[in-house]
Amino acid sequence: MQINQIINELGKESLGELIKVSTLINSSLDLSEILTHVMELTNRLLNCEASSLLLLNEKTNELSFKTATGEKAQDMKAFNLKMGQGIAGWVAQKEKAVIIPDVEKDPRHFSQADSKTGFKTKSILCVPMKAKGQLIGVLEGINKKENLVFDEADLSLASILADQAATAIQNARVYEELQQDHENLKKEVRPKQTLVGKSKIIQDILKMAGRAAQGDSTLLIRGKSGTGKEMLARAIHQLSPRSNKPFVCVTCSILTQTLLESELFGHEKGAFTGADSRKIGRFEMADGGTLFLDEIGTLAPETQLRLLRVLQDKEFERVGGRETIKVNVRIIAATNEDLEKGIQENKFREDLYYRLKVIEIFMPELKDRSEDIPILAQHFLEIYSREMARPVKGISKEAIEILRNYHWPGNVRELKNTIERSVVLGSSEYIVSEDLTTEIRHPREGATSLPSREGPSQLPSGNTLEEAEIRHIQEILVKTNGNKSKAAELLGISRNRLDRKLAGIKPAAK
Ligand SMILES: Nc1ncnc2c1ncn2[C@@H]1O[C@H](COP(=O)(O)OP(=O)(O)OP(=O)(O)O)[C@@H](O)[C@H]1O
Ligand SMILES: [Mg+2]
Repeated sequence: MQINQIINELGKESLGELIKVSTLINSSLDLSEILTHVMELTNRLLNCEASSLLLLNEKTNELSFKTATGEKAQDMKAFNLKMGQGIAGWVAQKEKAVIIPDVEKDPRHFSQADSKTGFKTKSILCVPMKAKGQLIGVLEGINKKENLVFDEADLSLASILADQAATAIQNARVYEELQQDHENLKKEVRPKQTLVGKSKIIQDILKMAGRAAQGDSTLLIRGKSGTGKEMLARAIHQLSPRSNKPFVCVTCSILTQTLLESELFGHEKGAFTGADSRKIGRFEMADGGTLFLDEIGTLAPETQLRLLRVLQDKEFERVGGRETIKVNVRIIAATNEDLEKGIQENKFREDLYYRLKVIEIFMPELKDRSEDIPILAQHFLEIYSREMARPVKGISKEAIEILRNYHWPGNVRELKNTIERSVVLGSSEYIVSEDLTTEIRHPREGATSLPSREGPSQLPSGNTLEEAEIRHIQEILVKTNGNKSKAAELLGISRNRLDRKLAGIKPAAK
């Protein structure tokens, strides 16, 4: 349509409105934001009670209500129309705009929607939406206000609006695809992090993780700081059919309750002070993928309740919003806190606890799987010597023994940092004991790699004489706070003999 023709038909005021519309719609690349703008503008420009936008799904050849405004907007979203079904389906099939002043008299009217929503449709104006000649959906204005009827001027306005909307929607879709491609490329380029460990306990965990990855059950990963909880969560995502969708992390402890809720669920503009635009939450970002909720034990009671609802219904509202958002997200939560104690003290909801721990995995402390220390150390050595372009050939036997005997309160993270430090500061071809800190070389009395009184114990449970002997030795070592000389004395054997027996429990480094 020529500008002059538009001015003649619509008047200068409407043209001004249309220019504003065009700027507004084209200012965003966010699909849901564009849809919301288009709906608001349709209502305003056509002066009607409600409006609907239906997008064509090319695979199913059906039209689905994307955003519907007006009182019954939520109910409308439940409907899908086939090509040719209802007035919208007819418009899509014929690619022709229509004005229906009295829908009751029109045989094409899809009355089911009205009877289900209780909304009375009186008049409709419906136009096809096309981008580059391709039909992408239809736009409807419903019930002209003040008992008026839709006219040709409304039809022109709606057609221009529909064209603008179609282009903006197509652009947003292309942008989304590009962003997704970009993310996938980044993932491919990023070196894969491997979860290293040959101990039986880590191997068992990996097997369990592999099986768990195939399903959608919620997972709870527990363990002390630095034991590899996040790493395991990422590994599960990578092994799962969701691996080409996002893995999104939220650390529940670092934000205030309001900010955390807005981070998780998003917020509408003006939901609270400082919310000056709409924000998409992590749940929405993770749609199709995995959401990792770290430090879940720190959630405030109200947030626990909201989370419980999402876990149950797979839907939520943005903070300050009324629109219900459905998501398909796999939840993996992690904590190093004693949730059971939290329940007893009424700090953690029991129902949420059971929802989360459908599958529960405990990450053992490094000191309880010291046979993994040499290969982990070697693994980190390779990473850092490559990263820092400093060729280090290996770790001396003596240094490995020291690493194995240390109690690693910071677990794998501490070992990783130790190796990084040694690679940076060491001067020889090998990492030697002198490259390690005094704390690691001479741990305080009582701090050894042996089982602690509390926490998971790796004591063998069998009945053979050998197993009973190991159990007895370890119990004595706990009694003596890890002092091997005292333990040897109590056991009535030499210190050397005790060392040999301990070497049998934890095979020496290769
Ligand atoms: N089995 C493993 N193999 C290789 N690297 C590991 C392993 N376990 C942990 N790491 C590394 O150790 C560091 C700490 O791991 P991660 O962040 O997963 O621990 P976490 O249990 O989540 O700790 P926190 O409770 O402190 O958040 C990370 O850099 C991770 O890459
Ligand atoms: Mg972590």
